[in-house]
Amino acid sequence: MRRIAVINQKGGVGKTTITANLGHALVLAGYKVTVIDLDPQGHLSTCLGIFRPPQKGMDEVLLNGMDIATVTMVTRESLSLVPAGGQLGEVEQLHDGGAARARLLVDGLKDQFIGQDFVLMDCPPSSGLLVTNAIFAADEVLIPTSGDYLSLTGLANLMSTLKKFEPYRKKPLDKWIELSRFVNRRRLANEVKEKLLKHFPNQVLATPISEAAVMAECPGVGRTIFEYRRTSRSAKEFAALADDLIHTRCM
Ligand SMILES: Nc1ncnc2c1ncn2[C@@H]1O[C@H](COP(=O)(O)OP(=O)(O)OP(=O)(O)O)[C@@H](O)[C@H]1O
Ligand SMILES: [Mg+2]
Repeated sequence: MRRIAVINQKGGVGKTTITANLGHALVLAGYKVTVIDLDPQGHLSTCLGIFRPPQKGMDEVLLNGMDIATVTMVTRESLSLVPAGGQLGEVEQLHDGGAARARLLVDGLKDQFIGQDFVLMDCPPSSGLLVTNAIFAADEVLIPTSGDYLSLTGLANLMSTLKKFEPYRKKPLDKWIELSRFVNRRRLANEVKEKLLKHFPNQVLATPISEAAVMAECPGVGRTIFEYRRTSRSAKEFAALADDLIHTRCM
């Protein structure tokens, strides 16, 4: 099983969109997938068509030690969702418990998801306890990065933050950068791409996800791109991205 945290402290870069659509792409490629919403905004549920998500979810798992299986919902064949729950934001405010606070999810995930091939964790745009938990619980991180200048500086910070975790981990984290909301005709986007390739060789996944109106429309109808516009370029990109991840294929 591959446990992948989808992180970037920068907001709106496409973390949730990628978690939902890559999750579905992996299912269509024949894998069993669970997606976990670690963002109190709860947008992952919306992207998968659950407009009134249940009040209990990851909040109960992290705050009260509830068994993750009891709050997992099957949204489509082979695609399960653990919703955020109404109180998830309270995790960021936990003050006691020391290092244990950062490892709540490691315990929560123990012995869970047997038979699953991929677990994708959608993280909030912050660098608090929820993200720390995801990083400890994951073997890999997927970092959606948009093609603008501020993304580059943000990414440098994120990479150095991730390095600080390494001494506390059993295995090093595999880090994948995903070019998201990519506009190929924009010179800056291509410059950013070249810089990323130079600084992070063998870490930029081969297929960029283009900025596309259909992608922005998907959450409104609660469908993934494979349900909304199956033959679109975006659907093809997500299928290719799933293949990149399966074979760890980089640019
Ligand atoms: N490839 C794309 N093309 C067009 N719009 C996109 C694309 N990817 C995401 N969006 C839109 O951009 C907005 C932000 O995307 P998303 O919510 O996935 O980002 P995020 O990183 O999860 O944001 P946050 O940091 O708030 O959690 C959403 O309205 C989404 O529909
Ligand atoms: Mg999000």
